[in-house]
Amino acid sequence: PDEFAFEGAHQAGITTRVQDHLHFASFDMMPRARRDDLVSLLQDWSHAAARMVTGLDVSASGAVGGPSEAPPDDSGEAQGLGATGLTITFGLGPGLFDADGDRFGIAHRRPAALAPLPAFVGDALDEAYTGGDLCIQACADDPQVAVHAVRNLSRIAFGRARLRWSQLGFGRTSRTSAEQQTPRNLFGFKDGTANILGDDAEALDAHVWAGGGGEQAWMAGGSYLVARKIAMHIETWDRLRLSEQDRTIGRAKGTGAPLSGGDEFAEPSFHGGAIDANAHVRLAHPTVNDGVRILRRGYNYVDGNNGLGKLDAGLFFLSYQRTPAQFIGIQKRLATDLMSEYVTHVGSGVWAIPPGAQKGSYVGAGLFS
Ligand code: HEM
Repeated sequence: PDEFAFEGAHQAGITTRVQDHLHFASFDMMPRARRDDLVSLLQDWSHAAARMVTGLDVSASGAVGGPSEAPPDDSGEAQGLGATGLTITFGLGPGLFDADGDRFGIAHRRPAALAPLPAFVGDALDEAYTGGDLCIQACADDPQVAVHAVRNLSRIAFGRARLRWSQLGFGRTSRTSAEQQTPRNLFGFKDGTANILGDDAEALDAHVWAGGGGEQAWMAGGSYLVARKIAMHIETWDRLRLSEQDRTIGRAKGTGAPLSGGDEFAEPSFHGGAIDANAHVRLAHPTVNDGVRILRRGYNYVDGNNGLGKLDAGLFFLSYQRTPAQFIGIQKRLATDLMSEYVTHVGSGVWAIPPGAQKGSYVGAGLFS
């Protein structure tokens, strides 16, 4: 199967080999929007997305094929760039399923797993980067193609939903294909070594694809996305001696190998004391989390700098899992992470990711049938 195809059993952008750039956007439904608005929005978004991921404009008349007396359907800045591996992944936030008022008539179909995340030790969440009724993850190898997608989908949402917050990311911090070299995050460490890969069907079924039990039948083949905007205090980190940096992560900065020995892909050993009990890789490892794993798909970000001349930089963490409980368990375990001193979670969100659209249909159709 084509890993970039919009239609399919699963949405693209999860197991797809991680592209180089991200534009992530969170939307809120307008106060007066009702079920029909939500359905038509998801239909229009899916229609436009299916075109854009093949390198086409959002509509047939597109950027320059319409009447010259009207604003063009497509804003036009992606003309000539091609698809550059664009994937567009849509998610549904917990707020859509609010029983209070139930304005979309879907409260009875809320997956039990879909609820706002609990507060974690050290959280410093800013409302400006938190929550949202809908999300769009646009990934592409050309940043302008990802930005074009979000910009045009926002335009299409006019009157039904509005942009709440968005995030640009660069330099993937993960890999989902064995052919991809492990990239590095802004601490300079290889990130994504122990990730779930896109061709590991067994691990994907066990840890990433949601089942369809009971009223959640519409979620079968879907997943749950957790986003965390994690600020990294890189000036503090940069003053740390190399051996301390290695101890904090539990791996060697150069090779990415676990401090217990072997090469990058050797299984870490937590006996013998080579890896600190509170090293990041130990606390995040399946052996201390009841076997739980997640598929990470984050990006680096730099949003300029603050008034004190420090970079406003970090990791826009994205993880896919069968249920948000997997992320919650690991994040709780990370409470004593040595890395906590150098990071602060400033934004957060959780969305149900419906399965892929059938040919000619739209993402989320199962929820309304
Ligand atoms: C592993 C960095 C946040 C979960 C790693 C590794 C690095 C790293 C360098 C080792 C290489 C690898 O296997 O990918 C970071 C940084 C973070 C961050 C810089 C924040 C700025 C998180 C968060 C979670 C998480 C919030 C989940 C709650 C994991 C997991 C592994 C891992 C599951 C693999 C552990 C294993 O199986 O060996 N991370 N991480 N990380 N991280 Fe993080």
